[in-house]
Amino acid sequence: MYRIGQEEKEAAARVIDAKNFFKVNDGLKEVEHAEKEIEEKFGCRHAIVMTSGKAALISALTALGIGPGDEVIVPAYTYIATAMAVLAVGAIPVIAESDETMTLDPVDTEKKISKHTKAIMPVHIQGFPCNMDAFCTLAEKYNLKIVEDACQADGGSYKGKRLGTIGDAGALSFNQYKVISCGEGGALLTNEDILFQRALIYHDSSAVSFFGNQMDSFSESMFGGVEYRTNELNAAVLRVQISRLDGILADLRRVKKTIMDSCKDAVSFIPSNDIEGDCATTLALRFDSAAEAVAFTEKVTLGTTIPINTGKHIYKHWTPVMEKRGAFHPLMDPFKMEANKEIIPDYHENMCPKTLDILSRTVYIGLNPDMSEGDIENIIREIRK
Ligand SMILES: Cc1ncc(COP(=O)(O)O)c(C=O)c1O
Repeated sequence: MYRIGQEEKEAAARVIDAKNFFKVNDGLKEVEHAEKEIEEKFGCRHAIVMTSGKAALISALTALGIGPGDEVIVPAYTYIATAMAVLAVGAIPVIAESDETMTLDPVDTEKKISKHTKAIMPVHIQGFPCNMDAFCTLAEKYNLKIVEDACQADGGSYKGKRLGTIGDAGALSFNQYKVISCGEGGALLTNEDILFQRALIYHDSSAVSFFGNQMDSFSESMFGGVEYRTNELNAAVLRVQISRLDGILADLRRVKKTIMDSCKDAVSFIPSNDIEGDCATTLALRFDSAAEAVAFTEKVTLGTTIPINTGKHIYKHWTPVMEKRGAFHPLMDPFKMEANKEIIPDYHENMCPKTLDILSRTVYIGLNPDMSEGDIENIIREIRK
């Protein structure tokens, strides 16, 4: 989260004064407005605001009917929640390499497709857009679904379309560390009416049929699910954050472009699938060797990260996944389910060497939309030295 202030305070106060936090109401209807505002800004038919980005991923997979017996391809470089969402629906995450753009490698993805594969989850990690044309082609060729994990990429785009709206369904996150935040929160995006119906039922299964007329026009019947319902307080803050989103992205992109233009003769940057749509939260430099990347971080006085050191974002550190503990109850554990017995993977630490090599040769510098000219000049000077 980059910007927050008086407007968010006033939005929260408005809800507290109204004394109604429940999503379905005849008063402020903050959740309903937030969803409409996301649909308009993102250009998609349906948005469901819920408790988290992972909740949105699980709801999307559920709505697509993915479960035991199915494989879902996820990138080797993503937050553990992507793979855990697959396990939560009883399916098996198949881990594919990430490429030079830091995002899921379409070539390795195709190699990992089997007769059990049901979906691909491209993750727009660090706000870097995935090669969505390639994944749409694969999805068509092999009859697969696409669930875009845009949790780190609120508002970014690929060839003019907002990330999260290109596949069958997508997920945004509004936790503390995202482009915009309402404390905790997420949104499921989809253009498919039937996926919307199933996700709405699943994410609020104890209440959706009892409050308001939410299911009046539904063709789907009620089924058992979970409770990921959001509330008016989060939605009120989120609405202000949504109104800030494009301004934040424009300033991040200006900062990133200024630095890249001024340094392109001195260093290499990672390639992008769509630099215009990149959220620009991160400047990513590419070196020929891990040693050069380390040497760079030791020379500059900037805050730098080598992504190979980011732990939870790399498959080999996803301990419950790697050690195949998919659930507490053995009968609910996808790694022990009868339906999955033919697809139990052989995960091991060095299974995605290309990703590990790329992560070790990359250096991140975090950007901020409110960096001053002096801050920007300092980064340029440090990189160039
Ligand atoms: C790539 C990715 N996917 C999913 C999530 C889950 O989002 P949340 O924390 O809102 O559940 C995150 C959160 O950090 C993420 O970075």
